[in-house]
Amino acid sequence: MVASGKAPVITVDGPSGAGKGTITQMLAKRLGYHLLDSGALYRLTALAAERAGVAFDDESGLVAVAGRLDVAFEPTPPGEPARVLMAGDDVTAQIRTETCGDNASKVAVIQRVRDALLQRQRDFCVAPGLVADGRDMGTVVFPDAEFKIFLTASAEARAERRYRQLMDAGVDVSIDALLKEIRARDHRDMNRESAPLKPADDAQVIDSTGLGIEEVLGKVMAAVGQA
Ligand code: DC
Repeated sequence: MVASGKAPVITVDGPSGAGKGTITQMLAKRLGYHLLDSGALYRLTALAAERAGVAFDDESGLVAVAGRLDVAFEPTPPGEPARVLMAGDDVTAQIRTETCGDNASKVAVIQRVRDALLQRQRDFCVAPGLVADGRDMGTVVFPDAEFKIFLTASAEARAERRYRQLMDAGVDVSIDALLKEIRARDHRDMNRESAPLKPADDAQVIDSTGLGIEEVLGKVMAAVGQA
């Protein structure tokens, strides 16, 4: 494999709810690769800002928060979701809320926040290889990745999936509200000036609308030459 930095990288970008989290975990497990959940870093920045009383429109404050983030992803077997610690505190569940995701999308529009998180993301690239999950993994963070996937699905399919996940977790939500949130988040992520969400020119686009997780994994494995 061609090395990108220190080890081979497979990037998986796409909008919220397209199934990237599950697929990247499964892919990393199959290949024995490390996993970077870059969205977690934006979520952690938003949570740390909230805890420090830094407003989401205070650019310098947010940049400072991103630069001094004290986080640890507890090592787990390949492909398993990491436990996330912030200043020693387990925030795995806190960073997964809809509010935190929405706040993350707000801090992520700031180029200087993105710059502050860039090297931290590249540092995840160590042997034997990395699966990187995000919005700009193939376009900005790992432009030389050997394989680039852009995983997408219709907004309705993504809202439906998220609805089922939340109901399973005992969280009562309205599907209409979720659809509205997803559309708003897509709009913000795709129309921002800094690293907008879009497929890299050399990405393979996979649409998971109407497909089960195993079918999507099959397509992704084929796309990375592992069918
Ligand atoms: O993937 P996620 O839902 O955990 O990401 C939360 C937000 O973080 C997302 O709405 C946009 C931002 N993000 C980003 O701008 N760039 C990334 N590489 C990953 C996430």
